[in-house]
Amino acid sequence: MEKSVRSRRREDNESFYNPILPIHKWKDELVRAAKDNSFLIVMGDTGSGKTTQLPQYLYKAGFGKNGMIGVTQPRRVATISVAQRVAEEMNCSLGSTVGYQVRFDDCTSERTVIKYMTDGCLLRNTLADPDLTKYSTIVLDEAHERSLSTDILFGLLKKQFQLGSRKRRKYPLTVIVMSATLETQKLSLFFGNCPVVTIPGKLFPIKERFLNLIGPRDKDSTAYVTETVKVTLQTHLNETEGDILVFLTGQAEIERACNLLFKKAEAIDYRHDLYDRSVEGLLILPLYGSMPTDQQKRIFLAPPAGIRKCVLSTNIAATSVTIEGIRYVVDSGFVKQLNYNPRAGLDILEIVPISKSEAVQRAGRAGRTAPGKCFRIYSEEFWEKCMPDHMIPDIKRTSLASVILTLKCLEIHDVIRFPYLDHPEEKHILEALKKLYQCGAIDRTGCVTKLGHFIMEFPLSPNLACAVIKATSFGCQELLLPVAAMLSVEHVFIQSGESQKQKEAGQGHEELSQLAGGCNDFATLLYIFEQCKTSPKPAAWCHKNGIHWRALKSALNVEKQLKEIANRLKENKDFPVEKFDGPRNEMLRHCLCAGYFSNVARRSVGRTFRTMDGHGSIIHIHPSSALFGKESQLEWILFHNVLVTSKIFVRTVCPIRYEWVKDLLPKLHDIDAYELSNVAREEVTAEEILKWESKEETKHRNDGTEEALN
Ligand code: CDP
Ligand code: MG
Repeated sequence: MEKSVRSRRREDNESFYNPILPIHKWKDELVRAAKDNSFLIVMGDTGSGKTTQLPQYLYKAGFGKNGMIGVTQPRRVATISVAQRVAEEMNCSLGSTVGYQVRFDDCTSERTVIKYMTDGCLLRNTLADPDLTKYSTIVLDEAHERSLSTDILFGLLKKQFQLGSRKRRKYPLTVIVMSATLETQKLSLFFGNCPVVTIPGKLFPIKERFLNLIGPRDKDSTAYVTETVKVTLQTHLNETEGDILVFLTGQAEIERACNLLFKKAEAIDYRHDLYDRSVEGLLILPLYGSMPTDQQKRIFLAPPAGIRKCVLSTNIAATSVTIEGIRYVVDSGFVKQLNYNPRAGLDILEIVPISKSEAVQRAGRAGRTAPGKCFRIYSEEFWEKCMPDHMIPDIKRTSLASVILTLKCLEIHDVIRFPYLDHPEEKHILEALKKLYQCGAIDRTGCVTKLGHFIMEFPLSPNLACAVIKATSFGCQELLLPVAAMLSVEHVFIQSGESQKQKEAGQGHEELSQLAGGCNDFATLLYIFEQCKTSPKPAAWCHKNGIHWRALKSALNVEKQLKEIANRLKENKDFPVEKFDGPRNEMLRHCLCAGYFSNVARRSVGRTFRTMDGHGSIIHIHPSSALFGKESQLEWILFHNVLVTSKIFVRTVCPIRYEWVKDLLPKLHDIDAYELSNVAREEVTAEEILKWESKEETKHRNDGTEEALN
């Protein structure tokens, strides 16, 4: 039976058009509804064909004549793979009629009509074209994911519509919001009671089992990785035909699990003398966000006869990507999330239990083509006590600095009364305003400064953009652009694991950091970049040094693009030019201070440091840093990001001199969020501003720098 399913799939792959997708029956109704309404919501289960088919229906119905059909996705990897698939279905080359745009990778042309892009890209594109005149239709896909950019786009499109941008456009814009689950009523209400078209899905029965390997007490442990691997192997050995989908949390972990799986599969096969069910019987494929495109494609291909495909994926396979033939799901129960930690005042990448509705969604992936099974490695108690009913949308969890700057650049000053689908907490917005004020992107009146506009030009976080701008104004951008590029690609280092080869790779990293000067993780990144760029055989160099060549390849490409932006900005007469001379290593760190002074910490007791931003959190240097173990020799440090496990760890760290930040640190304290709140609401009068300014001046005179530091 399974064989016949597989051979049918092969044929599908040849013709590339799948007429049995549930959405097919709704084609005419969808096209009609899109013609009759400015806003439309389409709700349909994952895999029903929304993402790949609806844009094609619209295209064939002539929607592309007056502008592009833009389709957003929250994830980069899904954007590319979907565009690829649709180009194949439409029998055109990628970048012609069908194209995609993700950060640092634009694969579109004059001819492009169906454009898949990340929601972040569309948001950025609105800066240059606020009325979206290039588009006839905007499809906001995966609305249920509630990613930050999609949420902001909801508000923007609603607002634009209210403001009558239709008058400024030659043709009216059609907005379609697509969602796999939930909240369609709420969305409909938000968009003025717009119609909802529901595509009923077809799901085979799924047996769900709690395996009790993880309980509430394991909430903060990483034991789930090995348990998940064990369950995956048991599934392979005990269950009948059908592919396996395993949910884990991130790239490094998935790579580790793949390795464990290889090793364990070998051991088990040896012990059981089951040669034919050895690791070759299991086609192990990782799937995560930063994966190279050609590798992603393998995920969708049917495995060779007699081989079971096993995909180890991040949450991306829960809704964004549908893999046919999955009959078994192994759910670790965890997901990696960026959470704004108000206590630390930072965005922190955390591994947290998934919500119950996400668990249901994950299980559903097992029943698309036949009855399936879902193995949950956790217990029912874990389900009850640790897993919330629903996921909290990004807008309530992550730092808003970047999107608020985007809104401000779009001349939406009243960021508090912006039409949010879910209103973020006011103090959260204030925190973002404060951050923007601190890095000089907005002024006291909440208006975007020249620097703010320059920051916006770079598709980087405001901190990093600021550091790059500083370097450019010093004329030493060749130090910072590679670092920014290296920080923009994921996982440069091959993770050190248990194998001999990986251990060697780990030692290689230490050697590299020594060669780069020994005590600066940013300099190590720069060193790797430069070595790679000048090496005659860069791929071999990376391999030898335990570096992901693909990551480096994209870093080289990203650096080129950042350089173009920097060169363009330098032409601008308002672009600052400053002088600073010193050794390379100092210049680099000095520039970093300009962007990262809110991420500065001072040695406290033992090996700990205390942040300087008013939160005064206690932090530790992560063992992956070259500074780990050298804490006693350090006084002031600057860090790029934070990881929380049992403690708060900082990663990518360098030592700095107090004198480089001493003029900057008071900025962390010189404005009260409440004052910016009045500014944000636009209720402020010129008189009030003057009053604050004189108050601030007195405060400055009184408190001096030292107080701010203590
Ligand atoms: O968006 P929705 O979840 O409703 O479905 P879709 O992504 O349009 O997927 C429709 C079908 O296309 C599924 O059967 C997928 O397996 C298939 N597909 C694929 O084979 N390769 C891709 N890159 C994307 C989708
Ligand atoms: Mg989809």
